[in-house]
Amino acid sequence: MANRTLEEIRTDCASCMNCPLGKTRTNLVFGVGNPNAKLMFIGEAPGQQEDLSGVPFVGAAGKLFDKYLAAVGIPREDVYIANILKCRPPQNRDPLPAEQDACIGYLREQVKAIRPKMIVCLGRIAAMRLINPDFRITREHGVFVTRGAYEICAVYHPSALLRDPAKKDEMLADMLMIKEKYDMV
Ligand code: URA
Repeated sequence: MANRTLEEIRTDCASCMNCPLGKTRTNLVFGVGNPNAKLMFIGEAPGQQEDLSGVPFVGAAGKLFDKYLAAVGIPREDVYIANILKCRPPQNRDPLPAEQDACIGYLREQVKAIRPKMIVCLGRIAAMRLINPDFRITREHGVFVTRGAYEICAVYHPSALLRDPAKKDEMLADMLMIKEKYDMV
């Protein structure tokens, strides 16, 4: 099948009932940003603010993430931001494997439509799904691997930085490295 456009994929997602979260969500949180982005960030799942607004990374974690983008000079509107899950899990619990299985096809289609050069996973859930099921974020954050046409790495999830500010120096170092690479691709 030919690659579908983001709008075609979004239309499908809007009526998705592949898992029970389709019933409990307020809004679909499909993804936002430049459809021709060189760089895609992929988080875990919408939280409360995202569920209310339909936009990824707009709550407390998103505001912290925005600070890192600004600090390293990557405009948010130049990248594309999406999540493994498009609907909010109740009480922000971790996405269940069955929910990830039900939703991951949409993300794969988004990646095919955008064709980024670089993918950065925000946190271990995305990293375990997209890089390696045994991914250890404390050891492997900031390490790019090549997967087909793109390079992929993971950084700490901004929520983890809110819980443990001691990780913030490592996050800044990773984001600076990502910006350097971003300027070269
Ligand atoms: N955390 C995520 O992983 N994604 C969001 O969109 C918001 C918070």
